[in-house]
Amino acid sequence: MSTWDDLAAHQASVGQRALAQLFENENRAAEFSARAEGILFDYSKTNIDATARALLIRLAEEAGVARRRDAMFAGAKINETEDRAVLHTALRDLNAKVTVDGADVMPAVREVHARMSAFARDVREGRFAGQGGAITDVVNIGIGGSDLGPAMGAQALAPYADGPRTHFVSNVDPAHIHDVLAPLDPATTLVIVASKTFTTQETMANAAAARDWMAAGVTDPAAQFAAVSTAEDKTAAFGIAPQRVFGFADWVGGRYSMWGPVGLSLMIAIGPERFDDFLAGGRAMDNHFRTAAFVDNLPVLLALVGVWHNQICGYATRAVLPYDQHLARLPAYLQQLEMESNGKRVAMDGTTLPMNSGPVVWGEPGTNGQHAFYQLIHQGTRVVPCEFLLAREGHEPELAPMHRLLAANCLAQSEALMRGRSLDEARAAMARKGLRGDELERQARHRVFPGNRPSTTLLYPRLTPFTLGQIIALYEHRVFVEGVILGINSFDQWGVELGKELAATLVPMLEEGADADTKDASTRMLIDYLRG
Ligand code: F6P
Repeated sequence: MSTWDDLAAHQASVGQRALAQLFENENRAAEFSARAEGILFDYSKTNIDATARALLIRLAEEAGVARRRDAMFAGAKINETEDRAVLHTALRDLNAKVTVDGADVMPAVREVHARMSAFARDVREGRFAGQGGAITDVVNIGIGGSDLGPAMGAQALAPYADGPRTHFVSNVDPAHIHDVLAPLDPATTLVIVASKTFTTQETMANAAAARDWMAAGVTDPAAQFAAVSTAEDKTAAFGIAPQRVFGFADWVGGRYSMWGPVGLSLMIAIGPERFDDFLAGGRAMDNHFRTAAFVDNLPVLLALVGVWHNQICGYATRAVLPYDQHLARLPAYLQQLEMESNGKRVAMDGTTLPMNSGPVVWGEPGTNGQHAFYQLIHQGTRVVPCEFLLAREGHEPELAPMHRLLAANCLAQSEALMRGRSLDEARAAMARKGLRGDELERQARHRVFPGNRPSTTLLYPRLTPFTLGQIIALYEHRVFVEGVILGINSFDQWGVELGKELAATLVPMLEEGADADTKDASTRMLIDYLRG
């Protein structure tokens, strides 16, 4: 029997037990939680017991997680389908010693970090100004990994933002760039075009629109553009001066890139020192991931809980529920990080995956979600494992009682999901309301909560730049560990290509009325409608 079989057999034998029963072990909370540098991860409100955990750890060991982790940090080409190293970790560890193909990659990383820090200071302190005065607004144009990281980070670290205002444009829907630019003054706006490839259709269309907008307001529009890209020939062709182009190597995947130049807009907003604190948080999580035993290792534990819920229990989705308004974009960020990384149908060797790939990740901040979709989480027929995140304190000391309300709601949800409310309890509640007989019975049934719904809770002291770095690196490594266990390549994204190619064939059909005969009848009908 394989470890997968052992896990399935174990799950079958314990699947029906009440989670609350597990707490008859008075040490359960301590035994099924782990801490790293101020962060507490509690997974005791899941059905994982000592046997399940031991089997899950065996799975990770058999998959070679430690060996593959060390290979990643050392610069080995673990992204095998693209023949690339995976070294986003080097962006946050400027003193690391890393070689790829025998060449030291760190001098270039340090050089770009120093240049972007200097540029961020120049913008913040007015040495780099617009044609109408100091820069008041920075617009980052990018999509996917060239947008979600800095956009999520700028919102997460809003309490630390003391530079120009930051804005993010990603969608090729003209409404996006139109609405963002409309209130801004071109003479005091800096546009950063962030695109690793500098070919992405949406980003190039938005960049061209921004250049036209800028040209209508200043005499030298290109002077207020910067670029974040690996394609220096293309940024030059766009007219952006080389001193304002910040490159990075192909071993940084888009969704792992916010630690380097893609984070430029965030760096300008919070300043290079705080950005370095963010890097330090990521580094601290790297060190933890590299050194802690699996049973104490946060990224490994998050991954093992994920595998248990998704591949073993068959729960197809996972709700990410930050009780932290500043993390409102975290679910969207994680959707790319997790679903683009681990939404794969074949293993590294090309064989069809024998188990489910990564889960559907979704969510919204608490407490808003409580008044929207938690109904289904509590009483729907599908189990949705929930991942709560909460800070011990916010950034508004004068409103501390509200933070306690927030915390109480967060803890109440995980408690309610686990305990539920039995039919007898519901009947008693209805009796207290004065109901009797059939009506009591009918009403009580609607008020039953099945309970036994698993959740985990991640607590952290405060959402500082350092803590955000820890959290993002934690999720990155969780994705990595899950990917290794599934035997897939978490670092390519071929699944996004087909739609891009087909979109290219459709543009002339929509624009110039080109022949649509090659398309299916549904697509032809839709084209006809859109042509008007
Ligand atoms: O569409 C997929 C993708 O390649 C993502 O992986 C990436 O983050 C995004 O597009 C943007 O790519 P680029 O930075 O090259 O514009």
